[in-house]
Amino acid sequence: MPHPRILVVAFSRTGHTRRIAEAIAEALGADLETIVPLGPPRTGVTGYVRCSAESLLGILPALQREVHDAAVYDLVVVGTPTWNAGVSSPVRTWLRDNAERMHDVAFFCTCGGFGPDRVMRQMEQLAGRRPRAKLILRLRDLEDGSHAARVAQFVDAVRPPAREEPAAPEKARTSPGNGHRAAR
Ligand SMILES: Cc1cc2nc3c(=O)[nH]c(=O)nc-3n(C[C@H](O)[C@H](O)[C@H](O)COP(=O)(O)O)c2cc1C
Repeated sequence: MPHPRILVVAFSRTGHTRRIAEAIAEALGADLETIVPLGPPRTGVTGYVRCSAESLLGILPALQREVHDAAVYDLVVVGTPTWNAGVSSPVRTWLRDNAERMHDVAFFCTCGGFGPDRVMRQMEQLAGRRPRAKLILRLRDLEDGSHAARVAQFVDAVRPPAREEPAAPEKARTSPGNGHRAAR
């Protein structure tokens, strides 16, 4: 049976969400798409302020053209950092642009500890469908290593069953004689 096609899509400003996205993609044998917003870099204090302003004002940044087409995957796992108790603005843009193109979804987010449930609700609204599974990781989970077991649980919950291959036509019998096995 062919393996289901899975895409993990994530944005990460400081690497936490990327680290989880990579672990999930590796465990699922999935392709990985990095969301890259256009415009000035988001590093440092000015980058932080820009990100914060975008999320507070609901600004949707333009994104670099994606490498992977979400429409060809059986499952898309989307990951975001939490910004002002909401979805990060680059992931918001990506979900807006791809909501109609995804078949099945699962979500994860990283956060300091404030607002991740709201992030999950927003992702569900933006995607227009309920996720197969959700994963919320706090920075302290990443620091003490307790995230690994939760990532493994999430991976088990999202892994879709292998796709059924259309049944191959039965081969004509070619054995000699009347098809009975010869007595030894
Ligand atoms: C602009 C901005 C706003 C943030 N707002 C929140 C927040 O409301 N709640 C929270 O728990 N963490 C918040 N954080 C912390 C990030 O969600 C957290 O550090 C996350 O793991 C960063 O992921 P990344 O390393 O993939 O960028 C915020 C970070 C930024 C840059």
